[in-house]
Amino acid sequence: MHIEEHKSLRDYNTFNIQATARYFCSIGSIQDLKLALQSNIHPDIFILGGGSNMLLTKNIEALVLHINLKGIKIISEDKNSVVLNVMAGENWHEFVQYCINNDYGGVENLSLIPGNVGTAPIQNIGAYGVELKDVFLDCNTLSIENQFEKKFTKEECNFAYRNSIFKDQIKGKYIITSVNFKLTKSDHKKIIDYGSIKDELKKINSHSPSIKEISEAVIRIRESKLPNPKKIGNSGSFFKNPTINNIQFEKFNKKFPKAPFYKLSEFEFKIPAGWLIEKSGFKGQRFGDTGVHKNQALVLVNYGNASGKEILELAEKIQTKVKKDFNILIEPEVNIV
Ligand code: EPU
Repeated sequence: MHIEEHKSLRDYNTFNIQATARYFCSIGSIQDLKLALQSNIHPDIFILGGGSNMLLTKNIEALVLHINLKGIKIISEDKNSVVLNVMAGENWHEFVQYCINNDYGGVENLSLIPGNVGTAPIQNIGAYGVELKDVFLDCNTLSIENQFEKKFTKEECNFAYRNSIFKDQIKGKYIITSVNFKLTKSDHKKIIDYGSIKDELKKINSHSPSIKEISEAVIRIRESKLPNPKKIGNSGSFFKNPTINNIQFEKFNKKFPKAPFYKLSEFEFKIPAGWLIEKSGFKGQRFGDTGVHKNQALVLVNYGNASGKEILELAEKIQTKVKKDFNILIEPEVNIV
């Protein structure tokens, strides 16, 4: 276990923001994790996964633990399904590719999502009609306070749209060390009615696509709409899609009959934040080194040397304008640090 001081975090966050960690330790084993937590070098601990869902607006005055635990193991399997134990530091997309190569079904719609396996449950990552909770069995964690190991079942995780107990009630208290997934080996449940996937599959004329073809379709869609964080710093969707009640919705729908929406229930409607931001005039706009992506207004970008504060200022400007134009509050999906 090696603790570094004043370490630059630029290569550890997909927004590519310059900020430093007072102390930094890369964690390769559960033993290292326990030792680092017991080191008492700093009273505050900051857990860093793939760095794909955070905006650094300042230096981190804490011991930053970069979770680099690796490994994928088969726990059990039968003719129809397999249970995999995947360590938290495995890259999410590499795990998806491992599943596709072994013909394990369930995560193909979640191809190319940035980040690591251990941080995926925190915000219940989702795309194209599938959420992490659909394949999640349970996860192993370590308590920051006393280093006891604790398993969280799916029910205990309280998964909801881009949310879980780890982002809410017990935020910052446990470190996810590995996740157990249940995937299919036959009769894959293919989710292909989501608009853009359907269109993409039509292009290859496939009525009964393989999970590999679904994954490739998702990759093509994402590459056409979302900027590659290796080329332009970004954190995927910066805002969550807001939910409004039926009374608000009626007024909204009357005023903007062409606006897309998803009906969640009789009383709740979700409005795509990307549409609201585009109609507020921000799509493709650049302010210094910050900007709103030209193909997907939900994504804020760092063109080079933007600071976290500058990105946050742009986010607030967008929030204010959307509120003024539509009377809807859009809230960040990324963690502001
Ligand atoms: N839209 C616009 N302008 C835009 C972007 C979107 O008008 O600039 C409209 C689209 O035309 C469409 C609607 O908004 O009618 C929804 O767009 P899309 O299907 O592209 O999905 P989204 O709501 O913008 C969500 C997730 C994405 C996920 C996609 C696909 C959230 C906050 N975002 O985006 O997740 O990939 O659905 O399932 O829920 C992420 O979390 O980082 C992420 C990229």
